[in-house]
Amino acid sequence: MHTLFTAGDSPFIEKMFGYVCPAGGGIGAPRGWEWGIIEAMSDRPNRIVGPESRPDDRLDQALRPRSLEHLIGQDKVKDNLSILIAAARKRGEPLDHVLFYGPPGLGKTTLAHVLANEMDVNIKITAGPAVERAGDLAAILTNLHQGDILFIDEIHRLGRAVEEVLYPALEDFALDIVIGKGPSARSIRLKLPRFTVIGATTRLALVSAPLRARFGVVYRLDYYDLAAMKDIVRRAAGMLGVESEDGGVEEVARRARGTPRVALRLLRRVRDYAQVRAGGVITGTVATEALDLLNVDALGLDEVDRRVLNTIIEKYNGGPVGLSTIAASISEEPDTIMDVVEPYLLQLGFVDRTPQGRVATRLAYEHLGVPYTNANHQQPGLFEA
Ligand SMILES: Nc1ncnc2c1ncn2[C@@H]1O[C@H](COP(=O)(O)OP(=O)(O)OP(=O)(O)O)[C@@H](O)[C@H]1O
Ligand SMILES: [Mg+2]
Repeated sequence: MHTLFTAGDSPFIEKMFGYVCPAGGGIGAPRGWEWGIIEAMSDRPNRIVGPESRPDDRLDQALRPRSLEHLIGQDKVKDNLSILIAAARKRGEPLDHVLFYGPPGLGKTTLAHVLANEMDVNIKITAGPAVERAGDLAAILTNLHQGDILFIDEIHRLGRAVEEVLYPALEDFALDIVIGKGPSARSIRLKLPRFTVIGATTRLALVSAPLRARFGVVYRLDYYDLAAMKDIVRRAAGMLGVESEDGGVEEVARRARGTPRVALRLLRRVRDYAQVRAGGVITGTVATEALDLLNVDALGLDEVDRRVLNTIIEKYNGGPVGLSTIAASISEEPDTIMDVVEPYLLQLGFVDRTPQGRVATRLAYEHLGVPYTNANHQQPGLFEA
């Protein structure tokens, strides 16, 4: 349910309904931007350029690369993994425990499946929040077979008591169980088969040090470069059976924020547009029109990103301004800004982190078409503590 209001109505509407209205100005934004579209806060996770998984992304599972050979980009991680796999195979042993970290949508889950395929073993999947009690984990562990992979997504969300059970399991393939209560309680140690845990997290800092230390290898996944993104889009277009030209592939790749999940989502929307409006072929023009219509600009920024930048630039004169102040100004959770908006703005070099807060850089002003006025920014030394 969307209602149109002018941008100037925004503060009033926010106050009255807790809804937000994108603040004004058609700066660098596609047509129709002068009018804000009221959007419930709960719509926010549905951002088309949001890196987190959405229900409609389920279709992407079929597009997941199944072997290292078909995996595009992340060359360093790939090289390291192929050595790890070859060595484990040679010794006839299960893989070492592996921890993947990095922003959402870059392929942590995909890599876990690839490793299982490459090692030709079973993979069992769980997630930090799903394992509520120590007993749940004990049950999972005792059901594993020799060589199995246990994939624990969002491993930073495991509870403390559960983690305690995981330590000896990772280190000694053993499960310590306490039987009985009070003075008669005794602890027995169960042997587990040799298995591999693959952990994934978007927040390495929240993984406790003892847990981190028990992983043999830790890999960071980074945003993909344009060449890799183009390969991913081209491969997916081929698998979806949609005809595409190089210009179209590039346009989708460029606006996908270095994130395969976003690329696949944009590709599906562009494919719809091409089929309904443009004879089915994704050309450069078709992709540009479709993505403009979705309010995704040439660098993949959407209205949430632009509102964050506009807030820093217009309300706070370019910054520095604290993250929680920015979040409050646009009725957003600080965590959301930190996890899903800021990383890409930092990556683009549009925002700087200083001890005093966030500062919009000259690049951000240029992208939004606002004259760069704040002389303070040329002297970053001023902001240092
Ligand atoms: N290297 C790659 N090559 C091709 N496609 C990829 C690659 N990495 C990821 N993808 C695609 O991107 C989608 C998202 O990847 P995946 O689910 O593995 O991300 P994730 O890092 O586990 O995200 P989250 O943190 O949200 O769990 C997958 O469906 C897959 O099809
Ligand atoms: Mg995942």
